[in-house]
Amino acid sequence: MDKNEKVNELARRRGFLWPAFELYGGAAGFYDYGPLGAPLKRRIEDIWRQFFVISEGFAEIEAPTIGVEGIFQASGHLSGFSDPLTGCKECKEIYRADHLIKHIVEVPDALSNEEIYKCIQENEIGCPECGGELSEVYEFNLMFKTMIGPGNKMAGYLRPETAQGMFINFPRLLRHFRDSLPFAAVQIGKSFRNEISPRQGVIRLREFTQAEAEIFIDPRDKTHPRFDEVKDIKMKFYSQAAQERGEPEEMTFGEAVGRGVIAHQTLAYYIARTYQFLLAVGVAPDKMRFRQHKSDEMAHYAADCWDAEVFLDRLGWIEIVGVADRTDYDLKAHTAQSKVNLSVFVNFDEPIKRQKLVVKPDFKALGPRFKGKAKAVGEALKALGPEELKGDKIRVMVDGETIEIESSLVSCESVEEEVRGEEIVPHVIEPSFGIDRILYTVLDHSYYEDAVDGETRAVLRFHPAVAPIEVAVLPLMDREELVFPAKKIQEELRGLGLRVDYDTSGSIGRRYRRNDEIGTPYEVTVDYETLEQGTVTIRDRDSMLQIRVPLGQVADKLQALLCKALKFEEAGTMVGPAKEE
Ligand code: ATP
Ligand code: GLY
Repeated sequence: MDKNEKVNELARRRGFLWPAFELYGGAAGFYDYGPLGAPLKRRIEDIWRQFFVISEGFAEIEAPTIGVEGIFQASGHLSGFSDPLTGCKECKEIYRADHLIKHIVEVPDALSNEEIYKCIQENEIGCPECGGELSEVYEFNLMFKTMIGPGNKMAGYLRPETAQGMFINFPRLLRHFRDSLPFAAVQIGKSFRNEISPRQGVIRLREFTQAEAEIFIDPRDKTHPRFDEVKDIKMKFYSQAAQERGEPEEMTFGEAVGRGVIAHQTLAYYIARTYQFLLAVGVAPDKMRFRQHKSDEMAHYAADCWDAEVFLDRLGWIEIVGVADRTDYDLKAHTAQSKVNLSVFVNFDEPIKRQKLVVKPDFKALGPRFKGKAKAVGEALKALGPEELKGDKIRVMVDGETIEIESSLVSCESVEEEVRGEEIVPHVIEPSFGIDRILYTVLDHSYYEDAVDGETRAVLRFHPAVAPIEVAVLPLMDREELVFPAKKIQEELRGLGLRVDYDTSGSIGRRYRRNDEIGTPYEVTVDYETLEQGTVTIRDRDSMLQIRVPLGQVADKLQALLCKALKFEEAGTMVGPAKEE
């Protein structure tokens, strides 16, 4: 078995990830999180909340997973969220047409369906399965469609991203943030994409969890007040230019912005926060890079985008987060679709004085000429700009009728006015995290093996902050005199909110091994010295060292160890490596 197979086997056997609906034959692209996977996922999401809700002060919302058609008409998903497909005329297998010509065309995304089909024909590409002839190329929309209510009257779609929930609530969010920029809202929730060939476990699912932040900024100010906190962090940037050279460049975020590698501070700040978050949940820094999208691979709404990519065994470099500059694309699109103004009035630092042209219609002349319509004609004239006032004749539209008036009936005057601010459409920076891909990366990057007593020990070296079980309490033997104090310790630790497992089955060595492979950072063993001396052992998963700690200090010491406020060697009396038999 290679590492990828071992991680997947372990994930299935120990209850992290189970292929869904197995009882009924299963369906590709759906997974269940088991008793260890669900808490691992929840803990990763909670750390995300710590970063993006608590620390940044963003507002968390929860919108429906089904959206009405207008949303996706505006967002471009109805027309553009599709992949080009072709089918085998013989065996009926279906393929991503652009993937079949990847070895011939460098950027197949840039070709039309007709061009892809021409390429398939000219290069005599047949069905990869049976060699049969391939059909013409057609578009397949990745959204799941449904009908809302009876009677097929209203179409609905399962959302393909959580982002739209934030965009369509923009006016309410703006009010929540007291009408001032910048502000941001986030959602952690399910998204749905009818992926064509979901074959890589939870990397490509049809139902998956996204954690997305939509940060609404004033486009005239792309500096960030907290940029200083991240400017000295070093990272590997795989910019468009670096991709031409074939090698990512390591530099600080400060240098990246200074040299124009990242367009502005705000984008750089959120890439840096993404990096910090990924480190905090246990993604390995030496298997991570940030890659800028090439201009022809950018999503329809993005002006710039950097993906956090991780190296996974067998799968290679995989995107797990995208940090995009979505500009004003979405707010403008929803304004056009909904006819609701989604702009913000932004005050200038100081009101400014400006000359304004005021149009003065000659009402004495207009009155007798246009009678009941004179007022409307006058108002239409007042609304004209300087260009429209040029020439001998001026034209205005009133009640659908074009009216021509001699320019002598209109005079203009320049007056000074005070202007307090202006209407702007905010731009959006969006870090979009795929929680399932992050979770799988944490499994892959945490997994290692070492040799103990001539046997292979498999370990998930989870950060304590994500471990689904934080402490295992193990009586050395399943005997009343040891079980009683062990249960008391378990109760005390659970009372403090720790995730505790209690295990009496099998030899102590086998119990250590079982906990190592699910990533439990510490085990407390109750033995006969506990009864004689009032101490227990605490074993450290990674070093397998053991310390003895007085019963009354176990809870405090474990809490300090789990939050890394205390070094293991300093937490008690060292008694050497644990007896692993
Ligand atoms: P890919 O090119 O791999 O399909 P994408 O560019 O479509 O990914 P985005 O649209 O940027 O992905 O989505 C944001 C994040 O959501 C991704 O970084 C990824 O972590 C996650 N994601 C997207 N599609 C899936 C999926 N089918 N299964 C699991 N996670 C996904
Ligand atoms: N919100 C970004 C994406 O899901 O594509």
